[in-house]
Amino acid sequence: MERNQVLIPQAELARQREFEEKIRRMFEGREAHPVACVDTFGCQQNVADGQKLMGMLRECGFTFTSEAGEADLVILNTCAIREHAEQRVFGNLGALTHSKRENPEQVICLCGCMAQEERVSRRVKESYRHVDLVFGPQALWKFPELLWQVYETKKRVFSVDDEHGTIAEGIPVVRERGVKAWVSIMYGCNNFCSYCIVPYVRGRERSRDPECVLREVRELVEAGYKDITLLGQNVNSYGNDLHIGYDFSDLLSDIDKIPGDYLIRFMSSHPKDATYKLFDTMARCPHVAKQLHLPVQSGNDRVLREMNRRYTREQYLDLVRYAKEKMPGLVLTSDIIIGFPGETEEEAMDTVSLVEEVGYDALFTFIYSPRPGTKAAAMPDPAPRSEKQKWFDKLCQAQNAISASLHAAYIGKTLRVLVDGRSDDGDYPLAGRTEGNRLVRLKGDEDLMGQFINVKITDSNTWALYGQAE
Ligand code: 5AD
Ligand code: SF4
Repeated sequence: MERNQVLIPQAELARQREFEEKIRRMFEGREAHPVACVDTFGCQQNVADGQKLMGMLRECGFTFTSEAGEADLVILNTCAIREHAEQRVFGNLGALTHSKRENPEQVICLCGCMAQEERVSRRVKESYRHVDLVFGPQALWKFPELLWQVYETKKRVFSVDDEHGTIAEGIPVVRERGVKAWVSIMYGCNNFCSYCIVPYVRGRERSRDPECVLREVRELVEAGYKDITLLGQNVNSYGNDLHIGYDFSDLLSDIDKIPGDYLIRFMSSHPKDATYKLFDTMARCPHVAKQLHLPVQSGNDRVLREMNRRYTREQYLDLVRYAKEKMPGLVLTSDIIIGFPGETEEEAMDTVSLVEEVGYDALFTFIYSPRPGTKAAAMPDPAPRSEKQKWFDKLCQAQNAISASLHAAYIGKTLRVLVDGRSDDGDYPLAGRTEGNRLVRLKGDEDLMGQFINVKITDSNTWALYGQAE
């Protein structure tokens, strides 16, 4: 697609701001103070989308609650990555029939990745008649207009066309208070890993213009955010669609020049597009955290091929070797799927052996969940769930031992930690993150909140480090 078809024109965006104004005036007329409940499921990209929804709602005059029963507007911002996430959403949607019965004026809205699935929107249309508005991620930018249509026509509105996808700059955002912020640098995915629903629901890859990303990061740093994560399904293909000879490493280098006391992280990185140039850039740039989330998914070449991952175990291990060589102390994490259709125990154990060979600091582990419409969902899947669970448990056991020993090696060291919250452990009331994003529970005063401080590590377990502010 042409760039001018991808970028939503300013006039169109201005029109959305007018719809926000109309909704605000409508509520002023009613003298009702509108309250919204935005419930977000899934990944950081969805969290970032949820913050935009709240930004637009704030412009419409809404305040926020976490109680659906108290809200004039309830939004379920959904995730489609695994079946379990979908079941939870259908459960929540069902429960909303009660709140709608109590308050028939309540508007109920389903958005996010699930909403974009034809199978889901059809089911909602037929069987969840209390849902007023359904729209997919590609329609997020025109949410004010869709919401206005619901209020004006009192009819159900569905905006779920299968689209390439667009980029809308300047949507208002409500950010979390604190030091962490998310910045989407690109949207969509072209990779069609055979198990994954994302390319079907988030459209094709499209990169934001570098100046827009740079401006946003600069503003965040100036506003005091200190831990900024760049988001994309595969940030390593950032810029491919811009055709200006500018890639993700170039973006990182340019961001790094922004003065200030902050860290930049990014996710996710597809190994097939990870380059030595990227690791050289990370090593060279002081603001870039020495942390890498590099999802391997499997350690077996046949399974990787069936997954359509387009790298081999050896190629992956070579990347890890190079990255560790350039960045001693690099914190490495990964996503793993166990029980891909047709996977044998031996193949699953290849994944366990890769995990041991790499020595990840932590893993995000999943048992394969068939997603209707993907290639893998049509593959024969003979291994019973109980068998997959055993392989999964072996993987978790192996990883827990690795995490525990890597964490224990920190004891006695002093680390730079960004204090970003409270811990639920009375003895260690504060929580923070190391440069490598490891969780630290620590002793110290409340006024350290939001600061980078030195922490002496005194204890550890599989999931966290414990320490004392120096
Ligand atoms: N089943 C299980 N896990 C999945 N993931 C993506 N699709 C599926 C699926 N169908 C995992 C992958 C991906 C992470 C975000 O979710 O590991 O990297
Ligand atoms: Fe899904 Fe693969 Fe795209 Fe990641 S890269 S979103 S796993 S298709």
